[in-house]
Amino acid sequence: MSVRCEKLDIRPMEHRHLDQVLAIERDFAAPWTREMFLQELRQRWEASESLVALRAETVIGYVLCWFVADEIHIVNLAVYAQLRRRGVGRGLMEEVCERARARGMAIATLEVRCGNEAAIGLYESLGFKQIAIRKSYYADNGEDAIVMLKPLVPETSWP
Ligand SMILES: CC(C)(COP(=O)(O)OP(=O)(O)OC[C@H]1O[C@@H](n2cnc3c(N)ncnc32)[C@H](O)[C@@H]1OP(=O)(O)O)[C@@H](O)C(=O)NCCC(=O)NCCS
Repeated sequence: MSVRCEKLDIRPMEHRHLDQVLAIERDFAAPWTREMFLQELRQRWEASESLVALRAETVIGYVLCWFVADEIHIVNLAVYAQLRRRGVGRGLMEEVCERARARGMAIATLEVRCGNEAAIGLYESLGFKQIAIRKSYYADNGEDAIVMLKPLVPETSWP
């Protein structure tokens, strides 16, 4: 049985969070660099949103997304390995989708590695549907990407 996290403390990512964010990020196959995160912080509000989940002022997860017309595109999401399966990923995704909805975005999209069962399970549990495959999308191992989409407003139609 999984242990849920208490109510999540989710806030905009700030420069002071970056060391902890990078400590989580460096475990991944193609980790983002500090400069990539800094770029997100520089362009925030107009074009992107970057959030952290905190526990006792320590970063336990983060999500980054871009706004393109009426679409929010989730570009990075991760949870500290020892605190997975406690609702942190779901909380971050729900928060970022809610903020996007409040800004008038109609759909949320993302790409996920076809072998990433945890992430696919999370996105499907949130109502994302698989709409396309990008063959050999990931440069580090040639893995395919699944493109997923979720309408943020009920009247959004999508084939
Ligand atoms: C994907 C990731 C962000 C999920 O975060 P998390 O905090 O563990 O997810 P949650 O606890 O909120 O899980 C919510 C739901 O997602 C699904 N899920 C999460 N982990 C899963 C797993 N390992 N296998 C199957 N389904 C899973 C379940 O439906 C789960 O609900 P449940 O626990 O009530 O069954 C986390 O595993 C992670 O950081 N992975 C490495 C980075 C990564 O792959 N990021 C995504 C890039 S596209």
